[in-house]
Amino acid sequence: AAQNAEIKIDIDRTIGEVDSLIYGNFVEHLGRNVYGGIYDPDSPLSNEQGFREDVIQATRDLNVSLMRYPGGNFVSNYDWEDGVGEERPNRLELAWSRIESNEFGTNEFMEFAEAVDTEPYFAVNLGTGTIEEAQQWVEYTNYEGGTYYSELRKEHGHEEPYDIKYWSLGNEMDGYWQIGHLNAEDYSKKAREAAKMMTRTDPDLSLVAAGASNFRPDADPMHWNRIVLDELKDVVDYIALHIYVGDPNDNYYNFQSTPHVMEERTELVEGLIDIAMQDADREDEIKIAWDEYNVWYRARSGSDMEGETALEERYNLSDALVIAGFLNGFIRQADIVKMANLAQLVNVIGTMFTTPDDMFKQTIYYPIQLYAEHAYGTSLDVHVNSETYDTDEFFIGLGEQQTQQSDVPYLDVSATHQDDGEVIINVVNRHRDEAITTDLISQTGGFEGPFEVYEINGPDVNARNTFEEQPVQTEQLDDVQGGGESFTYTFPPHSVTMLKGRIA
Ligand code: AHR
Repeated sequence: AAQNAEIKIDIDRTIGEVDSLIYGNFVEHLGRNVYGGIYDPDSPLSNEQGFREDVIQATRDLNVSLMRYPGGNFVSNYDWEDGVGEERPNRLELAWSRIESNEFGTNEFMEFAEAVDTEPYFAVNLGTGTIEEAQQWVEYTNYEGGTYYSELRKEHGHEEPYDIKYWSLGNEMDGYWQIGHLNAEDYSKKAREAAKMMTRTDPDLSLVAAGASNFRPDADPMHWNRIVLDELKDVVDYIALHIYVGDPNDNYYNFQSTPHVMEERTELVEGLIDIAMQDADREDEIKIAWDEYNVWYRARSGSDMEGETALEERYNLSDALVIAGFLNGFIRQADIVKMANLAQLVNVIGTMFTTPDDMFKQTIYYPIQLYAEHAYGTSLDVHVNSETYDTDEFFIGLGEQQTQQSDVPYLDVSATHQDDGEVIINVVNRHRDEAITTDLISQTGGFEGPFEVYEINGPDVNARNTFEEQPVQTEQLDDVQGGGESFTYTFPPHSVTMLKGRIA
């Protein structure tokens, strides 16, 4: 029998403000993300600075609030001074076994960030790098003048400081694969001393601690998070977490449940933050930054990992639904999740795919673009009555942790409300075959239509975009009336729908 559902919205039942920084992205020196992605001097599509104009336009349209740079694993063996000034040495780069030409570095990235109108978020090297090098980078980018590194920036043609506010203290330092991997205690000591030097250079920095990456049991994630929070609780503003999910066993329904694993982990870390805050010397709370998340499981082995075409995942509709599930999760946890960065921008597990003379937008581009354009305001604690399913025990993607999910709703919902009455309702219908006819009920005040309707869908869950055809895109459908206490809407199978109207 066809399913029915109810979505109950109460504008008085609030969770927290949606932070625009949850619509962040990430550019790492890896594969064809920088070289051949955003920077491609030989391409006919590039401007005189060597930047791809099609990629700039698509990135602007994506409404990226914050762009993380330059890694990722790459940063743990990166000397930022190689990427500024005239001399740009070729370096053997050991995070991904490639040669880094250093043609593109800090100043080129800042030009790109300006062109796409995004806020930069830098990561310092706490692998092979010293605390002094971390400080010197902040001095180069943010210090006004009169010192060696600030004057060097001016010599390089950048008179004014960039005032880069967001900096993370290393990347995935808990991971055994990370160059310069440390234990939690040693990482915390190094990060604290780096932070001391960096904030004495610029007191306005907002710092991010490297939390447990990917929750690998062999890395004892909760021990790592507890120590790092305890040691850095007076120093950092965010703790960074990472999650990659996939569908290696071709089980669509298991895969669709993976964003809920992220939400469980948010809750666990939130508990540790609460404990650390009890004797912290600060007014505000540490927040969670999911500063890497995505679907990543196909391009993950052998030659896929290295060289020029590393991590070139091709996404389908199922992946786009999962990304919308992540965004719904971030909105439902808007009180604590205050930053998120999809990993990554172009070619490398990217929202876009390029060749020297062409580009197309992958399926996962569309949910990010849609939410980042509209979904702001106060997150609402929506009540959903939807049929549910249970999953098998399964690995979420990287083989790092087994999980089993119960009561996974077919309809996954988040909503936001603005002071001026605007309400945005985001609905993923995970059902592969059935439309779900749903009563939307307003519990405080009435709906005021018309509702704009945006839908991301495709012929089936395996539909992919290619250069030749893009079956998965956002479509604006006809408005629906939706006035009064309730209205009914039918969500088609395997779709993301955004309804935008008012409650007054
Ligand atoms: O985004 C790809 C890689 O995944 C990043 O370099 C690393 O931080 C994570 O393991």
